[in-house]
Amino acid sequence: MRTTVKSPHLPFGDQRTAPWYGKDIISIKQFSRSDLEYIFAVAHEMRVMVERVGTFDLLKGKILANLFYEPSTRTSSSFLAAMERLGGNVISISEVRYSSVAKGESLPDTVRTLECYADVIVIRHPELGSAAIAAQAARKPVINAGDGVGEHPTQALLDAFTIHEELGNLENLTVTMVGDLKYGRTVHSLSRLLSLYNAKLHYVSPEALRMPPEIIAELEAKGVSQTEHRTLDKALWETDVLYVTRVQRERFPSEDVYESVKGAYVINAEVMKGAKPRTIVMHPLPRVNEISVDFDDDPRAAYFRQMEYGLYVRMALLAMVLGKA
Ligand code: NCD
Repeated sequence: MRTTVKSPHLPFGDQRTAPWYGKDIISIKQFSRSDLEYIFAVAHEMRVMVERVGTFDLLKGKILANLFYEPSTRTSSSFLAAMERLGGNVISISEVRYSSVAKGESLPDTVRTLECYADVIVIRHPELGSAAIAAQAARKPVINAGDGVGEHPTQALLDAFTIHEELGNLENLTVTMVGDLKYGRTVHSLSRLLSLYNAKLHYVSPEALRMPPEIIAELEAKGVSQTEHRTLDKALWETDVLYVTRVQRERFPSEDVYESVKGAYVINAEVMKGAKPRTIVMHPLPRVNEISVDFDDDPRAAYFRQMEYGLYVRMALLAMVLGKA
């Protein structure tokens, strides 16, 4: 991954001063607190503009290649909507079996092809490290939309923006992550992001789905308070943000192991009686059965609002890497 400006072609001289212009977004580790404050401010402006005018021409003439090797509803359609709301256009490749990938084309060659037609590439791929490989091959900015069990940085950014908008700040919060912490890439990125804000983290999972030890060690070295639990009751009472995840069936080595852990935790109205009145419940979605629909109308259920915040954050990120924010 290069973090220097990639494209030597600068149609407007002042783009050079935009800090994220031409950069890849591969890992949440690239972001400092001041970067996050900047993204929140731009995302907030995007929200105001969408509410006021719907679509505007900030990225008119720019093209996004949306390259999805794994299923997606929210991430792909919110990047598509983000580009269109900014007046740009999108090449969508979500059925890679109809592209030259099915003929055996390598990821670097596919990326080199798409950058001939597009100004920025968003990629989701089942292999850990694939986004970094794509970024290495590309001259144009590459945005990681999920690389296997690795990271999902734009999800963490929208998760942080959600917390910021819902609770007013991110400082000193107790955040409890529940479910599949081993294969769930969203929690890998979010826990790293929260380490910048003095968060107290609780990890609630079955033994087989614990947060990877290397992430625990990484955050430990930064002095983050982290506690692992097998049940939710030890952590729920003091939780400010309950971050629920889906058991990632597609990443399990065998169906038997999946069956043994799939229904481990279910959040419902009854369980949430044990939480504070201002606790927010988040989920990257899709949910299977880990949040009961009987909780959806509770004002603490933030997961549908979270999807909308994702649009504004992705608009901000596209504008930033294309030198327009
Ligand atoms: C997540 C993902 O793809 O990692 N979904 C998303 O991007 N909103 C979570 C999941 O699939 O469970």
